[in-house]
Amino acid sequence: MRIILFLKFIYRIIKYLLGSTKRYSFLLFSVFKTRPSSIIEIGVYNGNRAIELIETAKIFNQQVEYYGFDLFEEFYETKNRIKKELSKFPLSKKNIQNKLNKLAKIRLLKGDTKKTLPKFIRQKKKVDFIFIDGGHSVNTIQSDWNAIKKIISKKSLVIFDDYYEIKKNILNKYGCNNVITSLSAKAYKSKKFIIGDTFFDKFLNIKKKIYMVSVKKL
Ligand SMILES: C[S@@+](CC[C@H](N)C(=O)[O-])C[C@H]1O[C@@H](n2cnc3c(N)ncnc32)[C@H](O)[C@@H]1O
Repeated sequence: MRIILFLKFIYRIIKYLLGSTKRYSFLLFSVFKTRPSSIIEIGVYNGNRAIELIETAKIFNQQVEYYGFDLFEEFYETKNRIKKELSKFPLSKKNIQNKLNKLAKIRLLKGDTKKTLPKFIRQKKKVDFIFIDGGHSVNTIQSDWNAIKKIISKKSLVIFDDYYEIKKNILNKYGCNNVITSLSAKAYKSKKFIIGDTFFDKFLNIKKKIYMVSVKKL
């Protein structure tokens, strides 16, 4: 079983490195390195990344807890949500629950993370691995980080998606750049993955290069 999960991990790393979303190899390798038994994914979308995160963690731990935060069907209740958060169209909570149920202990939290995360962290449960990839507005990413930083230990690893390299300055509105640059170097160590992926963003009408950044508490 573990050998199958390990082979899947190797296959995925190679697939991403040879494809157009190379940064996901960094994400999966980071899970492999961290060996988490608890995972938070902010922005579940279609649940495919959740499967990869959980299966990589299960190489080392039979029992993995996965907490997935998303608007799910609420995404479609707000007009222009896609423009506000530059995200993707998610599946419903029920759909994702059915997709992930057999893999691990799954808990899906529906709603805007500006509300759901502050509520979640009241449990004061430390989480080993966190992937921040929900709403892409600076406000939302900052709010997500403000909550997440309270439930990480020195063993935890946080991965931010959406660190942008772009010509046009949209960094005050979108992406994690401002959040990363504002981190105290005394309190956190951050590392940008050397390989980025280039996309044409049809909402902003610009070409952008996207990186992932890992953050660890010192
Ligand atoms: C880029 S997708 C996530 C992709 C996924 N992590 C993956 O790797 O396949 C962003 C997701 O964040 C969700 N989202 C956007 N803004 C949000 C918010 N303010 N609160 C909660 N979820 C949000 C969207 O519904 C969408 O499913």
